Amino acid sequence: MSYKIIFIGDVSGGAGRKAVQHFLPGLIEKHQPDLVIANGENATHGHGFNRVHHKELTDAGVHFFTGGNHSFYEHEHVSMLNQKDPDVIRPANYPPGAPGRGWKIVETGMRRIAVINLQGRAFMKEEVDCPLRTLSKIMNEELAHEHLDSIFIDFHAETTSEKKAMFYYCEQFERVSAVVGTHTHVQTNDAQVGPTGIGFLTDAGMCGAYRSIIGVAVEPILKRMLTQLPQKHIYNEDGGLQFNGVLFKMEQHDCTEVTPINLTFEN
Ligand SMILES: [Fe+2]
Repeated sequence: MSYKIIFIGDVSGGAGRKAVQHFLPGLIEKHQPDLVIANGENATHGHGFNRVHHKELTDAGVHFFTGGNHSFYEHEHVSMLNQKDPDVIRPANYPPGAPGRGWKIVETGMRRIAVINLQGRAFMKEEVDCPLRTLSKIMNEELAHEHLDSIFIDFHAETTSEKKAMFYYCEQFERVSAVVGTHTHVQTNDAQVGPTGIGFLTDAGMCGAYRSIIGVAVEPILKRMLTQLPQKHIYNEDGGLQFNGVLFKMEQHDCTEVTPINLTFEN
């Protein structure tokens, strides 16, 4: 029997949370997804994730959260990563000793879906371990004997090429059914289902202010570019709210359809 996963691109600040609260309940009613995953690393003021904002998003219908390079900025984010049976994970390829874990098996109804979070290395500040070798280790050792319906991967990376490379690297793993990129906050127009049944989108985009530079208010960023002086990042709701996500339709280990979601609301 088929099942569905909705993935929500980086939730950026209050406008991002508001966009999720505004759009997600209707999307859940329309599509009846078995699992809703969001990248939550920017949900609190653009840097990290606290418990109040976690509750806002779970109340709106999100079941599980991935992260990235902003997973370790907030004390409460780290405590959520460290809690028993967490619903928040961080990239698996941080060096040993990092708080939390990089993959988790999520049970939803009759389904067992492993969600894996990885971070890219090209143009990223953090010198994380190789995402490809880390994935091979997870697949060949840690998940090798798990009965799973599907494996879902959020690859948090800067370049389109590294994300595309991850998609093709995953073709060797029969149970991987979705690879979606995050971090650049701009939804790409290349949704596809590969020959081995992997649904792929280079970047899911973001939820946040429509008139923004990847979620951040425009004017301070322009001022920084013109003056080279530091400016505070402001997360407002200019231009209304934007919701970016992806709907994956699955059939056992295979994705059958990938549909990007791109909605705006003039508030
Ligand atoms: Fe990021």
